[in-house]
Amino acid sequence: MAALLCRGRGLFSGAAARFSATSAVRATPSDTPKVIASFPNTKPHAVVDCKSVNGGRQLSVEFADGTRYEVHASWLRDSAPTRAGADYYRKSATDDVWGMGGLRISCAESHSGGERLSVEYEGVEVGPAGPEVFEAKWLHSLAPFVGKAMHDGAGGERFIQGTGSLMDRLLGGRTPWYSGVEIPAFDARHLESDLDAQVQFYEAMICPGVAMVHGVGTPDSLEMKHAGAPLEAHCEKILGRLNQHPVRSTRYAFMQKMAQPHSLDYDHSNPLSMHTDHAVYHGTPGFLQFLHQAQGHVRSKVADGLALAEHMRLEHPDAYELLTTVNITHSSRNELYTADGSPRNPADPGSRGVPFELVHTHPIIVLDGSGRLEKVVQSETKRGVCALPFSVYEPFMAAYRLWSQLCEDPRFVHHFDWPEGSVVVTNNWRTLHGRATVRPEVARTLCIGYANRILVENRYRLLKQRQAERANPALDHRWLTRVPNQALERMDGALSRCPA
Ligand SMILES: [Fe+2]
Repeated sequence: MAALLCRGRGLFSGAAARFSATSAVRATPSDTPKVIASFPNTKPHAVVDCKSVNGGRQLSVEFADGTRYEVHASWLRDSAPTRAGADYYRKSATDDVWGMGGLRISCAESHSGGERLSVEYEGVEVGPAGPEVFEAKWLHSLAPFVGKAMHDGAGGERFIQGTGSLMDRLLGGRTPWYSGVEIPAFDARHLESDLDAQVQFYEAMICPGVAMVHGVGTPDSLEMKHAGAPLEAHCEKILGRLNQHPVRSTRYAFMQKMAQPHSLDYDHSNPLSMHTDHAVYHGTPGFLQFLHQAQGHVRSKVADGLALAEHMRLEHPDAYELLTTVNITHSSRNELYTADGSPRNPADPGSRGVPFELVHTHPIIVLDGSGRLEKVVQSETKRGVCALPFSVYEPFMAAYRLWSQLCEDPRFVHHFDWPEGSVVVTNNWRTLHGRATVRPEVARTLCIGYANRILVENRYRLLKQRQAERANPALDHRWLTRVPNQALERMDGALSRCPA
């Protein structure tokens, strides 16, 4: 079935051709053809009617789900994938803005069972490919944001708030985990090549917020500049390049233990409380943390920040209030590397490092605008000088003592074997980790890389786009890119499940 509207020149060369191609269309008394259509409810996005309004300056579009919107003719023209080149950039930096004033629609038609809408504009040359064709699902997904709703119960206009993330919808499905949790495991080669496995991996990074990747392999050399090669190669296949440290020559931290404890990043003999990394970095850029066991087999431990925060909220509400609202400072000076990015012993006065300062002031438990846990920023070794008001200091420190003891509580700490050649990945905004237990006779090399949240969220966006395109090849990359996350989420349609 089809809906068709034409003012002036039609989509086809003559009326007979036009109506033979749109035999389901019935002309209304006002000479505006109107479709009588009944589409399966599995296609709520199908266009069942379209007509111009306000002299062609807007197009009224009705979808099979009963929603109806008026959209600007200039918006249609401005937003079409034909405006962008193969590089996804606009073909012209000015024509789309300067050349669309007063644009009017001369002809519009739905076809392909309502899956597509063809549009022509007055005074705009039709290219060799014919009229501009829009995918109905794309239009249906964007209409609530850009269209003027004309159906009953539509409510007011919707303004998109912020960039958003396709991962946001996973946050509500998170459940706390405890010492007996089973960590999701992935095979490195399968993960590198399988779209669905990658989606599953990134969803596991939200819940439970930790995963084991087996089979990443071991490096040909355990020297610092070569030891991270398997980790980097793996991460480039599933995500991209890791964060670059400001001074260190490698994009990964390097720790090595031989017969005598010897660390290039920090002292292995120093016990380390459960913590999240990057507490001293403003914004906590290390959203995901990839820890590659390049050499050795150890046992290590993780704990769920969500479970800890929930326990505090339910059992110690006054302490929870302080930990979620009072800002404290994490800070340090990093002088662990020389000018060429090589590690140095900071206790050696003959070794000159290149220093940089780090400071981050924030609550220990950071909540988002909905009151949900956004991140746990916990690192006792990096905790800086308190500058809390006199009246707050003592109650806050009492709450912090309670919290830091809870982080070590066996009910919350999960211990696990960590074989050579595997990578433990943690959501550094949720999952705390401690120092691994390494038997004295075991030599160990560990490489650690970080990825920021924006990179991770956009990788997930790309993966979800590819899943959507696979499910509906007509709605390809040209339609799925360049749109806000909030609209893309309506196009994607695949409900994500929390794997834990
Ligand atoms: Fe750490």
